[in-house]
Order: sequence, then C-alpha cells, then structure tokens
Amino acid sequence: MNGSREVRVGVNGYGVIGKRVADAVAAQEDMVLAGVADVATDWRVGVARRKGYALYGATAEHAAAMRSAGLEPVGDLDDLLDEVDIVVDCTPKKVAAGNIPRYRERGVRFIVQGGEKHEVTGHSFSAENNYASALGRDATRVVSCNTTSVVRTLTALKRAGLLRRARGTLLRRATDPWESHLGGIMNTLLPEPTIPSHQGPDAQTVDPELDVVTMAVKVPETIAHLHYWAVQLTRESSREEVLEALGGSTRVAFIEHGAGLPALNSVKELMADLGRPHDNLYEVAVWEDMLSVRGDEAFYAYMVDNQAIVIPETIDAIRALTELETDGAASIRKTNEALGITGRLVPEPTG
Ligand SMILES: NC(=O)c1ccc[n+]([C@@H]2O[C@H](COP(=O)([O-])OP(=O)(O)OC[C@H]3O[C@@H](n4cnc5c(N)ncnc54)[C@H](O)[C@@H]3O)[C@@H](O)[C@H]2O)c1
Repeated sequence: MNGSREVRVGVNGYGVIGKRVADAVAAQEDMVLAGVADVATDWRVGVARRKGYALYGATAEHAAAMRSAGLEPVGDLDDLLDEVDIVVDCTPKKVAAGNIPRYRERGVRFIVQGGEKHEVTGHSFSAENNYASALGRDATRVVSCNTTSVVRTLTALKRAGLLRRARGTLLRRATDPWESHLGGIMNTLLPEPTIPSHQGPDAQTVDPELDVVTMAVKVPETIAHLHYWAVQLTRESSREEVLEALGGSTRVAFIEHGAGLPALNSVKELMADLGRPHDNLYEVAVWEDMLSVRGDEAFYAYMVDNQAIVIPETIDAIRALTELETDGAASIRKTNEALGITGRLVPEPTG
C-alpha cells in the first residue's frame, strides 16, 4: 500500500520522547498530529499550544487544571482517542502499561516506548530488523535507546553475513538534561549490579538470533550514551568491509576524531549547528577512525543520543501498525527524508 491516505496520530505524554515524536509526526506527509495529552500545566505543554498542537488533559481533572492555567485544552484523553487511528504512549515507565486497557477498550492501535516490558505488547520493534512482523498488529513496543542502537548496528553486520557474536560495554548518561537539577550522579561511576545488563536480552526480544552480551555503567554526564563493542565476526575480515557493512544501515553515520568530532558534546554542537530540532542525533554515530579489525574480530565505539534515536523508529512503527506503508525500506526512506537523515553527519562542501 502506498500513502494516498493519512493516518491520524495522538501522542500521550509530551515529555522528552513525546515532544520529539509529536514534531516528527507533524513533519511526515502521510500523517496528521491529532493532538497531545499530558498531566502538566506549565511551560512544557504551553509550548505544544504555541506550536498549534491540540492539547488534551490525561483525565477530565487534568483538562480542568489546564483550563484554569489558560491552556485551552480541547478535552481529555478519551476525546483524543476518538480522533485517532493510533496513539503513541510516551508517558513515564509503567504509566504507559496502565493506559493499555483504555486503548484496547476503544480499539485504538498503540505504541509504547522502551520503559515498558516486551510482554505488554508481545512485540518489540526496530525498523531495519523486523518492520514486516509489525504489519497490521494492534500494538508494539519501540525498544529503548541503547537497545535500538544495538539492534541497528548488529542487524547491519548480520545482513552482511559478518556477525557471530557481540560483546558491548555501555556508558550510560546519568539523567536527561532538562531534569538534571533534580537528580543524577556526580563524582562517581555506578556499575549496573548485574552482568549481563538488560540491554542484551532486550535486543533479543526484537531478534532472538542475536548472540549479544552487554555490561553497563552509569556515568556523571547528561549528553548521550557511549558504547564500546568487541564483535566476533564469522570470518577474517577487513576494516573497509566492516565499515561498509555498518554503513548498510541508513541510520548509522560515521564521525571522525580527526574531523573535529572527538567527543559527545562536539557531535551535539554539530546537530545544533545543522538546525536539527532539539539538536537531535537520530543516527548511531560511529567513530570511523577508531574502528579496527584484527583477524575475525572488530572493535568500535559509538554515541547514542538517548533522547532522539527512537524517534525515527517510532515513526516507522506507526506506518507498520497502520499498514500505511507495507514496505519497511520505503517507510524508512520517507522517515529519513522528513527528518533530514542522509547517512552523513558532516555536510558535504558545496561548490
Ligand atoms: N528519556 C530518554 O532518553 C528515553 C529514551 C528512550 C526511551 N525512553 C522511554 O520513553 C518513555 C517516556 O520517557 P521520557 O523520558 O519521555 O519521560 P518524561 O518524564 O520526559 O516525559 C513523560 C511525560 O508524560 C507526562 N505524564 C506523566 N504521567 C502521565 C499520564 N498519566 N498521562 C499523560 N501524561 C503523563 C509527564 O508530564 C511528561 O510530560 C519511557 O518509556 C522511557 O523509558 C526514554
């Protein structure tokens, strides 16, 4: 099927992920953002109004509080659900699971985010790996930021016939920038209490064939996550071949120390300078000049913008569930084009 119709999308929870999903939906030619729902009554939802998004309270009481704050909500979540083909739930961990009976009662398709467990939808999504298996389903879960990066990169190596097994160490940002006055660690590193950490098994909810083990540590910064990987290949290979395989994902992009991008903050600055909304880095940014191959082993490091990486996946999940586009590659192309994902982060010199 191909996009002569438009799908109407609601976003429940207008926070870090929800506001980015809302903007990304509004940027697609084949989708309409029907509205956003939340419990907040401050500047955060005020911005949604300023952008012209229809605002809804999570309940009638929240709508009343919004009205008192001069935010002119249209109604409550039930009213929003009457207007949509699909809802993307971006409320905090576990809140989304509690909303599911409400979506099911009304027969509205829904997407939850990575804070929820696989079991709440029975399907976990990552566009380049398993788009086809989500077609026409009533629900899916877009896996978390770290898991999305793991599945994207390992799927690219698997498609090239190079992946035997992968072992990764994840340095996880302490909290999100907008709420870093409320919490987050300082002057220490906090290892996750178990090895393996949960991201490896989580990647297997998308692709059970992946032989992947992860270890994780929380670090005192808020910009993004940083991953180090050691991958056993199926055979002896070369740097060039592994780079080409990773580049097979349209959402892996290469960066270089040597080109002035040695750190997380410099890559974020580049996103700001490129005018990306919220400085979003949607791609997994792999350091090309660090990647090395010894015999049948590959070693590389990459940056994951936890606030942005799941946004293109969520857009593709909307097309898959609603069957707005049955060809995963075509959906990925449309999403990439609308969000300015070109496979390159450093602009080509012109002229
Ligand atoms: N922050 C990240 O880096 C990140 C990355 C990938 C996935 N996720 C996942 O995305 C989901 C959302 O996380 P987030 O970081 O955007 O959270 P957030 O706290 O930034 O935003 C949540 C929003 O939901 C609103 N909300 C709270 N209760 C609500 C309710 N009952 N009804 C409607 N709205 C309600 C809050 O006011 C807030 O605006 C979680 O599953 C999380 O695990 C987060």
